[in-house]
Amino acid sequence: MISDSHLRLGIPSKGRLSDLATDLLSQAGLRFRRQNRGLFARVSGMDVDLVYLRTDDIPTLCAEGAIDMGITGGDLVQESGAAVEQRMKFGVGRCRLAFCVPDDKEIKSAAELDGKRIATSFPNVTRQYLAEHGAQAHLVSLAGSVEAMIQLGVADAIVDLVETGSTLAANRLRILEEIGHYETVLIQNDTRRLSGIADSLVQRLEGVVIARDYSLIQYNVPRRELAAAEKVTPGFNSPTINSLEDADWCSVQVMVRRGEVVDVMDQLKLIGATAVFEMTLNNCRL
Ligand code: PRP
Repeated sequence: MISDSHLRLGIPSKGRLSDLATDLLSQAGLRFRRQNRGLFARVSGMDVDLVYLRTDDIPTLCAEGAIDMGITGGDLVQESGAAVEQRMKFGVGRCRLAFCVPDDKEIKSAAELDGKRIATSFPNVTRQYLAEHGAQAHLVSLAGSVEAMIQLGVADAIVDLVETGSTLAANRLRILEEIGHYETVLIQNDTRRLSGIADSLVQRLEGVVIARDYSLIQYNVPRRELAAAEKVTPGFNSPTINSLEDADWCSVQVMVRRGEVVDVMDQLKLIGATAVFEMTLNNCRL
């Protein structure tokens, strides 16, 4: 089934990240079908084979060359210490890795955890951070449910991922110190085998990721206000300006970050823009 002339892309076999990777690849125009929870799926029309793996094995298997590229969490790449190249960030799956302690504990910094017990699924990152801060701790290395370990009497503090903070609140824990910020990433083996296919895959995925981040805004504005409008909407590279029948007016098309669209529309109205429309982008090549 698997072929040496095809680029092997490792993706998570289950969980949130598996759904996310599948959606991204489909939106990027890759057509594939996974048979009966199989290990492999061939992409039609592109020399790519998908390999379904455990998310935390993907960095190591990519460094070893079992797969050429992989979609996984930046946190797992760092913990594995795998020597891989990060090709792109997806802008999703954002989280923080942090030292957390009980709400009511009078402790101010991670350095004060010297000699204490720390439960974590990230022993390597934790050990290195403590060493950089002149501390050493007894690490209790676990695969999950780390936030329960203080109540179970196994640890004085934990190092865990925090996304919304609701798990911490439910367990009466607070962040003591953040170690790092991570998100879902695309990694590549540093021999860059089949680099042409890899680059075309990156281009396709970037098209989707940028389109998810931006909207296309179109509006009409009096020509005398064009400079002011361009300050509000400078665009990704530069805005497209078209003439209108009325020579005193022009029409502008420009990319705007989704999170800023409402504010930008309000500012354009104040300048005197009319017919301000937001259009959703599905894909792009810039
Ligand atoms: C992760 C992490 C925390 C939780 C944080 O667990 O380990 O427990 O999410 O998210 P929150 O800040 O939004 O509450 P995950 O659900 O991946 O399962 P795990 O416990 O098996 O690691």
